Amino acid sequence: MGKKLFGKPVITQEAMRRRIKTLGLKIAEDYKNKDLLMVGILKGAFAFFSDLVRAVPIPLEVDFLVVSRQRDKRRRDGGTVKIISDIVSEIKGRDVLIVEDIVDSGYTVTFLREEILKRKPGSLKFCTLLNKPERRKIQANIDYICFEIPNQYVVGYGLDYKNRYRNLPYIASLDNITAE
Ligand code: IMP
Ligand code: MG
Repeated sequence: MGKKLFGKPVITQEAMRRRIKTLGLKIAEDYKNKDLLMVGILKGAFAFFSDLVRAVPIPLEVDFLVVSRQRDKRRRDGGTVKIISDIVSEIKGRDVLIVEDIVDSGYTVTFLREEILKRKPGSLKFCTLLNKPERRKIQANIDYICFEIPNQYVVGYGLDYKNRYRNLPYIASLDNITAE
């Protein structure tokens, strides 16, 4: 590994800490006296999810869903989303909040919405660390967004490029990470 592995931050640890604190309090306010089940979408959301749930000071449960998006350029819908490992918790009647790392084309959240709605939750909302609205291919309503970013590929704080860089403690643009 080269010396320049740790690229320039696009979003710093401090900026994320502050934004997550505010968002956590907003979620706590919106879900007080509800039956909150927060679902982290793996692998990408693992770091954000663990910081976010600790910033929500009300009773809640956590669960996880592992998905993988197969990109297929021949298909107009940009590929398919597959559930690799499903939620264990009962969904019916519960107030489900899905936590994503980044919303890009919008296909993943659209798939998740359809999939979770089949299980009849009491309510269903979406939260994402990052949003890239310029890249949207399909409309996706996101209830809580931490940061909007321009059309650039980012890594770190859970997000990967070819399964690497998830351990960077901040969000960096892939262009800034030059060494291998
Ligand atoms: P969507 O279905 O196109 O919205 O894709 C969302 C998924 O693509 C995310 O959960 C990420 O795994 C991945 N993704 C999209 N953009 C980026 C990026 O800039 N960095 C890392 N992963 C990304
Ligand atoms: Mg992902």
